[in-house]
Amino acid sequence: MDYAKYFNKPSLKKARKRQRTSTDIVRLDTSNLNAIGKGKKALIVTYGCQGNEADTETMRGIFSRLGFDTASGEKEADIIILNTCAVRENAENRIFGELGRLKQYKRTNPDLVLGVAGCMPQEERVFDALLEKYPYVDLIFGTHNIHKLPAYLESALYNKERVVEVFSDEGEIIENQPKVRDHKHKAFVPIMYGCDEFCTYCIVPYTRGKERSRCPEDILQEIDELLSQGYKEVTLLGQNVNAYGNDFTDINYRFSRLLDDLHKTDLARVRFTTSHPKDFTKETISVLAKGGNLMPHIHLPVQSGSDRMLKKMNRGYTKATYLNVVRDLYEQIPHAAITTDIIVGFPGEKKEDFEHTLDLVREACFEGAFTFVFSPREGTPAAKYKDDTPMKVKKARLQTLNEIVNDGYRRGHARFEGEVVDVLVDGVSKNNPAMLAGYSPHNKLVNFEGDASLVGSIVPVKITQAKTWFLLGEAT
Ligand code: SAH
Ligand code: SF4
Ligand code: F3S
Repeated sequence: MDYAKYFNKPSLKKARKRQRTSTDIVRLDTSNLNAIGKGKKALIVTYGCQGNEADTETMRGIFSRLGFDTASGEKEADIIILNTCAVRENAENRIFGELGRLKQYKRTNPDLVLGVAGCMPQEERVFDALLEKYPYVDLIFGTHNIHKLPAYLESALYNKERVVEVFSDEGEIIENQPKVRDHKHKAFVPIMYGCDEFCTYCIVPYTRGKERSRCPEDILQEIDELLSQGYKEVTLLGQNVNAYGNDFTDINYRFSRLLDDLHKTDLARVRFTTSHPKDFTKETISVLAKGGNLMPHIHLPVQSGSDRMLKKMNRGYTKATYLNVVRDLYEQIPHAAITTDIIVGFPGEKKEDFEHTLDLVREACFEGAFTFVFSPREGTPAAKYKDDTPMKVKKARLQTLNEIVNDGYRRGHARFEGEVVDVLVDGVSKNNPAMLAGYSPHNKLVNFEGDASLVGSIVPVKITQAKTWFLLGEAT
């Protein structure tokens, strides 16, 4: 097979480097692409975070500009792309399993193009495995070269070439990429790419490259377009979203400024994720306290409540400084809902460390958390740390933690019983077609009876019953 045209391999060593060069911005012109997808159907499956979902929306946009239709299932697809996540091992194992399963469709449809994109191919080890052990994967590309899809597709579909290209250097910010968004009323808007934090357990800085912030004008223009299309809610995305603007050398425009500018727009709702506690400034809290369209839900991953573990994780804050941010938030936005991410069983975590985490969870009054057992990621420092806690103990800690976290979910829901909350209706409930489902300002899932014509609008709903995972209500 001939790789000569595109072959490019990722390198962990290169991905670790952070250049001091400023970021170039490329404004794409996709207006005259050839309709190479006419009569063909494409399927993209997303496995990762919201950033990964936003990338899928860009891929869908490119497919649509090339004339492809969306396949409703694997069977009828001419091309299937898995947009992958590398953050924990089980996410990766799932993808390898999926590839084994999808291979069958190549037998019934020998022209099927099978692609792997996203964060997994950015890892050297995974890339090598895909190349050698999965010869039936025709198309492999990473997070930095999605805009080159038109050329890749042409080679893979028409020249039957295996296309393999993954860059370690992040290169440019690509503007004007076409998008087909998942929803018609709420949108993801990435405001920065990459991560410079290098938390010792985390693969993301290697798979996503250095922090690059989009120009405020580009973001505001995208939001203007969304407004003119009737969008009501925007979620600003970044791996460290509140570090937005810290990489600007020419302008003094930071995250709090952006929030303040969006506060003045006609958007009904502004959300953002994910915030790093270390970069959560007092200015940001004061702007958030203005309320209005700035939603009172803050996802603020803490990872651990033990200063010893936080140091080993390279998180850049202590239990006390984290709790200071939480205190400031509650002081200025008393009804705020705060959620978090926690890793248990980080190498060297002792019973006392874990107890500090439990203390912090209680003190911070979280109303939800994603909790994970530490998963070693090759190439990250923590993968080499001595880890002598048995998996059984780690799993038991996870369970103890989850019980307290679930109390938080219950408490967070219970406080809305009898209240009227505004619900942005996402769609018809999966389990019951008579019920609608949507989210409140505090990001609580609300189910209530209503007509499908309400999808996309904001409806006041009186909460009649609080459950652990959702609220039940009646439209008022
Ligand atoms: N940028 C975000 C989140 C990135 S990944 C932040 O800093 O908060 C989402 C979550 O996955 C992290 O918050 C962390 O809790 C978890 N995670 C990341 N790497 C992990 C690993 N190696 N093992 C277990 N959990 C991990
Ligand atoms: Fe990973 Fe830390 Fe960056 Fe979040 S801030 S993406 S956990 S390195
Ligand atoms: Fe996963 Fe990549 Fe997002 S590793 S969490 S898809 S940045």
